[in-house]
This record gives sequence, structure tokens and C-alpha cells, in this order.
Amino acid sequence: MKIPNFERIEGRLKPPPDKSITHRALIIGSISEKTIRIRNPLLSGDTISTITCLLKLGKVIEKKGKEIEIKPGRIKEPEEILYCGNSGTTARLLSGLLSGQDFFSVLDGDASLRKRPMGRIVEPLREMGAIIHARGKDSVLPMSIKGGNLRGITYELKIPSAQVKSAIIISAIFADGKTVIKENLKSRDHTERMLKWLGADITVEDKVIKIKGGAKISDGEITVPGDISSASFFICGATLVKGSKIVIENVGLNPTRTGILEILKRMGASIRILDLRKQCNEEIGDIEVKYSQLKGIEIEEHEIPSIIDEIPIISLLATQADGITNIKGAKELRYKESDRIHAICDSLSKLGSKIEETEDGIVVEGPSLLRGAKVNSYGDHRIAMTLLIASLIAKGETIIDDLDCIEISYPNFINDLFSLCKS
Ligand code: S3P
Repeated sequence: MKIPNFERIEGRLKPPPDKSITHRALIIGSISEKTIRIRNPLLSGDTISTITCLLKLGKVIEKKGKEIEIKPGRIKEPEEILYCGNSGTTARLLSGLLSGQDFFSVLDGDASLRKRPMGRIVEPLREMGAIIHARGKDSVLPMSIKGGNLRGITYELKIPSAQVKSAIIISAIFADGKTVIKENLKSRDHTERMLKWLGADITVEDKVIKIKGGAKISDGEITVPGDISSASFFICGATLVKGSKIVIENVGLNPTRTGILEILKRMGASIRILDLRKQCNEEIGDIEVKYSQLKGIEIEEHEIPSIIDEIPIISLLATQADGITNIKGAKELRYKESDRIHAICDSLSKLGSKIEETEDGIVVEGPSLLRGAKVNSYGDHRIAMTLLIASLIAKGETIIDDLDCIEISYPNFINDLFSLCKS
């Protein structure tokens, strides 16, 4: 693919709907005994995996224009394997739902998802009473679940993972008694906020979440805001290309997700939030970004959960910043859709940047002049989009292998990118 000649990134854009919130709206909506209407859902590879699994579980889900309606009715034993595609959120959150059901089901995924760790959900869900078996000494998909008869537990999360936390919260709805979850670092809290929005009995005090079994979910509507992780590619692109100025509209600004904006500000970027408001218990607003000269910074472990999906694009920013950027305590990146520490260091070094892997992070020395080269997305949507933004600032042609994976989170990415590239 060839990027047309352009001088700057300019204009206004509505990013695609939030992926994490759409998955949760679909899964939590499926538990409700009343109709749930989802406005502005993301329809992409990952969320379609969730919809397909829910249909196999007997749910009636209807698309009405730009909305999705989930009809009431209990889920039932699936006749087929529940295929989660590339989606870790589908596999882990559905495991929570299935642990609460008195029937047998099997989850599977693509080659990437089959490598991702599942032991982290097997352990707490078993402690609650689910019978779970999985390949690789119960560590990876495929995985079978026979649920039902759950009891509430008190569980301290060993890693800051919103997927693990959400699997436990969702299963806790079906458990006898109270479940208490303690986090050491706060991860995205969309599940907690959505359950509260829909009237469930859940309390959150700092990093302690308490949920009562049998929590009732009322009928209601969930409007999905724009995805800050998808918006980040353009926010960073505009920061990197001289003369750029963009406004991204209607973006989710939940504080557990806005780490990217704090990091950008610390690096010296010009970012302004306009019209901060609240919608369905989530903060949203518009973000104005202009080109800025950046400086390298230290990024510490406690910041990682709030930028977990943005580290590839932050690494690209660092290649253009003055000085060293040191990202620490990010080992979780090795267990994403690809080993993102390796994928980003390999690709950006091929483009000419000074970037090195550490066991749990990335060290970048900037600024360096990027030169076009042949690089690989590792089949990972966030690496592919990072490399497309890199190709905007690289001299000469960049050829990126395997861009199809972008449809996992942002099917319209290339059109949106072209619409903002102005000459
Ligand atoms: C997600 C949580 C994060 C994130 C993923 C989406 C979610 O994963 O990387 O893209 O929707 O809960 P972990 O919870 O495993 O860190």
C-alpha cells in the first residue's frame, strides 16, 4: 500500500467505538433478563467473535441500524466449540460467564490466542467452583468449562489485568455470597462502571471491588464512546508530523485509559481536552492535538496498565524524541496478540531507530531519522497501525507485511488515515 503525498495531518475525526466497552456491553447485556440496547457498538473482528459466541449460546442479538439489541433469555449449552478468533477479551470474559452456567462448553481461538496465558483465569474460576481443563497443563486454549454452583471468593490479583478482573466479576454474579477482588495496580474499570450503570450490586473503593451474587441487571441502554486506543494512532501521528493539528471527537476519557495523554504531555506534546462530559457512567470528550517537539522520559511499572495497548505507538514517539525513553515493568506486553516488546523493537530497528528490548521493557534513544524498509506486523493490529504511522515519517517507501489484521479493532483505519493526510 502506498501512502499518498501529504504535508500534514489535519482535520476532525470520530474514532471507532471502544472495543473493551463493546465486548462488555454484549456479554453483560446477555446476562440481563430484560432487553439491552447498545448504541454505537464496534463491529470489528474481535467484537464479532464475541457476538458469534453469544449466538452459539442461544442469545438473540439483532442489529437495528447503528444499534444492537440483545433480547432477554437464558444462555444454553452450545452445540459447537466457541471460537474466539484473535480476541483475548472474548475468551477471558466469556470464561467468567460460562463458569456460572450449569453446562459444558469449549473455548478455542486462532494460533495467536492459543499461545496466550489462560492459567490466570483458570485459577480463580476453579477456586469459585468451576470445573476447567485446558491444554498445556491447564494454561492455554482450547479449554473446557463445566460451570454452576459457584461460591464467592476473596481474590488478590497477581497481575494487573482487566480481563482477569472482569472474568471474576462476571462469574461472581452467578455465585453464592459475596466476591471481593483486590488489585495492586488499577486496570481499566469498564466492567465495574457498566454493572453499576445497569443497577447491579457492586461497590468499588479504590482498588477493592465487592460484588454480591445474584446481582440483577436492569433493562437499559449503553452508548459506546470512541476508543482512545484507536484514537492514539492519530493523536501520536499529529504530534509527529510538522504543521499538524487535529481534533478527535467523542473519545472515551475514563481515567484508567488516559495514560497516553499524560505520557504525551510529559514528553512535551500539545494536548487539550475540550468539552469533557459523562455518558453511561464513562467520561468522554474531544481531544485537540498539535505537532510538538518531544523529549524522552522514564515510564514506570505503575503507569503500564493505563497505557498497556499504547506502548507500540509510544515507542514510535520515543524514536523522534530528544534523549532516552525507558519503558519499565511492561512484561505483560509479551503476552498480547504478539510479543509486542519483540515485535516493535524488531520493526522499528529495521526502520532505523535505536531501540532495544529488555526483559520487561523497551529502551529508545532518539531522535533518529527513519528510513523506509520491509517490515512485518507480526499479525498484530496495533503493531500494523503503529508501522503505518511510522511510514508517514520515514524517508522512502515502507512495505508492511500483513495489514489485514487491522480489522481486529479498526476496520476503517486506512480510510481515516488518508482522510486526515492533507497536502
Ligand atoms: C482489555 C484489557 C487489556 C488490554 C486488552 C483489552 C479489556 O488486557 O490489553 O486489549 O478489554 O479488558 P489485560 O487485561 O490482559 O491487560
